[in-house]
Amino acid sequence: MKLFLDSANLEEIREVASWGVLDGVTTNPSLCSKESVTFEDNIRAICALTPGPVSAECVSLEADEIVVEARSLARIAPNVAIKIPIGVEGLKATKALHAEGIAVNMTLVFSTGQALLAAKAGARFVSPFIGRLDDIAEDGMALVEEIVQVFENYRLETEVIVASVRHPRHVIDAARLGADIATVPYGVMAKLVRHPLTDIGVERFLADWRKVKK
Ligand code: E4P
Repeated sequence: MKLFLDSANLEEIREVASWGVLDGVTTNPSLCSKESVTFEDNIRAICALTPGPVSAECVSLEADEIVVEARSLARIAPNVAIKIPIGVEGLKATKALHAEGIAVNMTLVFSTGQALLAAKAGARFVSPFIGRLDDIAEDGMALVEEIVQVFENYRLETEVIVASVRHPRHVIDAARLGADIATVPYGVMAKLVRHPLTDIGVERFLADWRKVKK
């Protein structure tokens, strides 16, 4: 499974890239609003640090305007993927952008029907937001399971990005279900690395190493 970082923060992205586990980055307007640099400069810098796709979100609402905005974002760097919220206008724009070879990440997906339409319109990625479903007592992972199965049934090439990840278990369950990608906030990525028994084990080995005759 590919791991993306769900962040617009350069330090976090640089750090996770240095671990050798970074396959891509997703941003959104809320994440970008926390950074002090301009949106375009930030996306350019993120693209330079990231080996794979970097999602930058369109804020236009009409298809024609989404396409114009997307083309301009796509010019920032070759690895920009255009995030577009699912909807009729978003689907129209996705169809046009797909024809131009511009990668679309269809975002704010909360149903399998939405994911299927996104794939048919030519989205390269769909992003089901599982944490936000869990937040309202629905089953986010059940949605991932259904989308993965439908895409497999018809050999759809669109990749499933499990988004709105809240904890390490979300990442593991997404991997068990065969989701292509999980986009993970920095805090959750850090939790994936650690295990208390690893820390205890290292401490114990170091203590015993001090007793070894050298
Ligand atoms: C994904 O692409 C989104 O940026 C993100 O996962 C949204 O997560 P949130 O529900 O924690 O805001």
